[in-house]
Amino acid sequence: MTRKNAKTVTITAALPYANGPVHIGHLAGVYLPADVYARHLRSQGRDVAFISGSDEHGVPISILAQQQGISPQKIIDRYHHLIRESLEMFDISFDHYDRTSNPKHSLNAQDFFVTLRDKGLLKKKTSEQLYDPKTKTFLADRYVEGTCPKCLNPEAYGDQCEQCGRSLSPLELLRPVSKLSSATPIRKETEHWYLPLEDYRPFLKRLLQKQKDRLKPTVYRQVTSWLESPLPLRAISRDLSWGIPVTDEPSGKVLYVWFEAPIAYITATQIWAEKTGKNWEDYWKGDDTEIIHFIGKDNIVFHSIVFPAILKAYGQGFRPADNVPANEFLNLEGQKISTSKRRAVWLHEYLKDFPGQQDSLRYTLLSIMPESKDSDFTWKDFQTKHNSELVSILGNFINRVYVLCQKYGAGTVPSPHEISSEDETVKHRLNTLASEISEHLETFHFRYAMQACMSMARLGNKYLTDRAPWKSIKENPQRATTDLYVSAQVIGYLSVWLALFLPKTAKKIQKMFGVSSQESVASWGMIPPKRILDPRAGLLFEKIEDPAIEKQLEKSQRITTPINTLENKTENAPPQKETISFEQFQALDLKTGIILEATKIKNTENLLQIRVDLGSEQRVIVSGLAKHYAPETLKGKKICVVTNLAARKIKGVVSQGMILTSEDATREKVTLIEPDATPGSPVN
Ligand code: 2FM
Ligand code: ZN
Repeated sequence: MTRKNAKTVTITAALPYANGPVHIGHLAGVYLPADVYARHLRSQGRDVAFISGSDEHGVPISILAQQQGISPQKIIDRYHHLIRESLEMFDISFDHYDRTSNPKHSLNAQDFFVTLRDKGLLKKKTSEQLYDPKTKTFLADRYVEGTCPKCLNPEAYGDQCEQCGRSLSPLELLRPVSKLSSATPIRKETEHWYLPLEDYRPFLKRLLQKQKDRLKPTVYRQVTSWLESPLPLRAISRDLSWGIPVTDEPSGKVLYVWFEAPIAYITATQIWAEKTGKNWEDYWKGDDTEIIHFIGKDNIVFHSIVFPAILKAYGQGFRPADNVPANEFLNLEGQKISTSKRRAVWLHEYLKDFPGQQDSLRYTLLSIMPESKDSDFTWKDFQTKHNSELVSILGNFINRVYVLCQKYGAGTVPSPHEISSEDETVKHRLNTLASEISEHLETFHFRYAMQACMSMARLGNKYLTDRAPWKSIKENPQRATTDLYVSAQVIGYLSVWLALFLPKTAKKIQKMFGVSSQESVASWGMIPPKRILDPRAGLLFEKIEDPAIEKQLEKSQRITTPINTLENKTENAPPQKETISFEQFQALDLKTGIILEATKIKNTENLLQIRVDLGSEQRVIVSGLAKHYAPETLKGKKICVVTNLAARKIKGVVSQGMILTSEDATREKVTLIEPDATPGSPVN
């Protein structure tokens, strides 16, 4: 419930990582509840700042950039715009959407760091961290994968296990492997800044007590269990090149993404306030504001513990969150949604496949929102919800009333005559449902709220069917036209309340029945007699037929494309070559070799002359690697060689074989295939 006396309400929606497009899990988990909530408060005349932006630092972005052989800047630019457009197309009504690469945000984040450091509230400490000896890189967060010590998931990340949800540190992983080179990491010392969270435990416990009655039970349980035992030191810097540099530290040290990203909520509010002539402090400081963070469950610790501790340490009147209504996870056809594994329904693809049908997805996701436990999206359920609820109940009701008004009211809402007790019941029920919607929203029960709103349509649909004005029109026209007037009032309520959940549909209904889009209070009589209906209105929804669903099901079964090929010039991919027989393949002699020496061939751009040890013999091979590898870095690398290719003279040098390489999706980055075997051993 919001504090009615707070003058302003700041609603934040977790910043999506700009390492991929947004999907239905993002929408159901964070952006839809935040949007519906913001719309609800605005409709009550509350002063709301609804804030979000792209999270553009952190390891997943660096990894993707490395995989694609392009700069992190290119990655974030691509996804920031795609995410922003997708969310806009789904009518997520942000007051401001920014990005963490905004220089103003770097300054803010560095100011937080310097303030905490200079107040003596941070500790600098040397500790052992995982290090990739091959690429000479410290392996923070997702640069390392291994087996989760809790649930034994073999694909746990260095910062978190997606299977059991536990947050991890790379050192806890069993059998860690570097994502950069597949090498087994070693331990190496490095110096970092830390936030001693334990110092804030009493403050955080008091905060939890204050929030207690309003928190979702899932959130309360998680935070309580964190606060039961001493809190660890939290590293707030990382050895990375991509991120916000740590002030007064050598290059290569950046602020940990989870230290700086939540500060971007504040930066974004400042930028918005500057543009709109507001005072940003009204939304972040003191008792006259209320702050609500909409997030997914994996973000709870950062929003309920780390960020409030940072704000407390910074001081200056910053207010910690009043509530953190975190959702659980949404699955897709029984499986986990995963950006990196490319298993998702992406919003930008949905928009192409179901143009103009955003509300059908909003409706389905609101109906199955993972509010108290994980839930599952299936395409069949989507089709059923669309066809049996949106088409058959909501659309059918509105359309019948519209057509009957055309017929019996000459294109207008007919005047009522005697209002019966049954009509009074409808009026009473509408007001009850309206209060129920508000109450459910105040307690973050979006599923119930949506259901209560649909109950208005069910109410109208049933009333119309029971009254059957098309039958009574002949013998009792006054009754029949009153029925239509009453039905129009139900539509009035729907046009206002649906705007919180299905804004596009609500707009269409408003246009159809001449309701002002500014109308935010529904009342009996709001669609007056003689109101002229829009003569050009069409059906609200069309049925979704089986082939459209089958196409999606087929698509979700072939989700195997890794994210790094997404929208990445796949048109450049070479066509599939003709099939060869097993014998033809066996005719190739592939062996492991080791590079002894590599020199650039004069007057060529890309050719290297490479001497290779194949175990029983040495060969010279000419290879086009000069643009991708400095010759001196090649010595000692193990490679795959085609050893029975006819010798060829290239630029005067006889090449006695071919070195195998792979190309990334852009076909610009070429990498050696490096087997882990002794020279001369066969490659099959
Ligand atoms: O989990 C995530 O997707 C993060 N990018 C959320 C960040 S929210 C905020 F605190 F910045
Ligand atoms: Zn686990």
